[in-house]
Amino acid sequence: MTSFPLYAPSEEHQLLRETVRSLAEEKIAPRAAEIDETEEFPWDVYKDLVAAELHAVHIPEAYGGAGADALATVIVIEEIARACASTSLIPAVNKLGTVPLLLAGSEELKQRYLPPVARGEAMFSYALSEPEAGSDAASMKTRAVRDGDHYVLNGTKMWITNAGVSQFYTVMAVTDPSAGARGISAFVVEKDDPGVSFGPKEKKLGIKGSPTRQVILENVRIPAWRMIGEPGTGFKTALATLDHTRITIAAQAIGIAQGALDYAIGYVKERRQFGKRIADFQGVQFMLADMAMKLEAARQLTYAAAAKSELVMNGTPVDDLTFFSSAAKCAASDAAMEITTDAVQLLGGYGYTRDYPVERMMRDAKITQIYEGTNQIQRMVMARHLLK
Ligand code: CAA
Repeated sequence: MTSFPLYAPSEEHQLLRETVRSLAEEKIAPRAAEIDETEEFPWDVYKDLVAAELHAVHIPEAYGGAGADALATVIVIEEIARACASTSLIPAVNKLGTVPLLLAGSEELKQRYLPPVARGEAMFSYALSEPEAGSDAASMKTRAVRDGDHYVLNGTKMWITNAGVSQFYTVMAVTDPSAGARGISAFVVEKDDPGVSFGPKEKKLGIKGSPTRQVILENVRIPAWRMIGEPGTGFKTALATLDHTRITIAAQAIGIAQGALDYAIGYVKERRQFGKRIADFQGVQFMLADMAMKLEAARQLTYAAAAKSELVMNGTPVDDLTFFSSAAKCAASDAAMEITTDAVQLLGGYGYTRDYPVERMMRDAKITQIYEGTNQIQRMVMARHLLK
């Protein structure tokens, strides 16, 4: 395993962090509680992100994007998530939906679908899971049947982040039922394709400003050129995509955790009990130290994983990206769950109320242990790498 240090945030990365943090503090943080409360997609904040070119930073300049590297993308998602996890899913899901095209799509597909995302005219979601195919993604049932120059898609995709607000979807479907995972292909489906509809919004614990819905495909007839890559390569493309984007979930997790830690530090310096600041109690200090230690360890692993992702995106083979991506996602999301839970604890009864942001951060952190592969799946992926 190559684990030498590959990353060092540059001056530009630092400047980017400052820019995103000030936008997040000015425009996103003041909206975060309301976004959570109303469960509405924050179109106003989306427009602010588009105006600042932060909604899909990873799209290469050749397709009209900002061409941010993987570490810069992590920093953007981290800083947005520090203020509002729901909003951080805008750049994260735009990356998830489009990486299949960047990895395996034809030039025609990339030219057609990436520029509208870069311009902020469309968002791009990723549709792998189904009601009966979650962790075992290869057991999907959605079918795509060739009909002349077209494919006809039928099936139900589930847990699709930003479904309904996204214009475009990478959809994995079975083209050869006799071939298992090698019989799955990936396609671009548009929201306006006849036969596409959406289930009701899931009633979730957190990330409430990001709609999660089923994408229902009923005789959706799309041109064959909308297949991403060759027939039968869709499952590999789907997993190779997750190698890059589990790192963005790690970024989201460390952002949420940083938001909770920062809030808790501010609180314990103000709150007085037994005649002194609760920050002066060693029990509280040890909790803060553990929170910061876990967070920093997760952050450094995430940045190392991002550096590997960047190498792979630029054509340099890296034999352990899959391991690093799973490790970063798993470590960061487990850390975020612990840190946000401790932040609630440090605020005591106040922390348990919606008058303070840390209970929202705790609820939002939970999903990072579940989506883009549960942490049990991440551990399975890591173990397979170790034992192969
Ligand atoms: N990159 C490329 N190819 C890969 C790969 C990778 N990282 N990992 C495996 N493959 C290939 C294998 O080599 C194999 O190909 P061959 O048959 O040609 O050798 C093929 O893919 C199938 O691999 P496996 O046999 O390992 O597949 P499996 O069915 O045993 O398990 C799994 C794979 C790792 C469990 C996978 O199903 C998985 O990651 N499951 C979790 C699903 C998941 O992460 N879902 C997330 C949904 S997206 C989401 O949550 C988004 C959101 O809302 C924000």
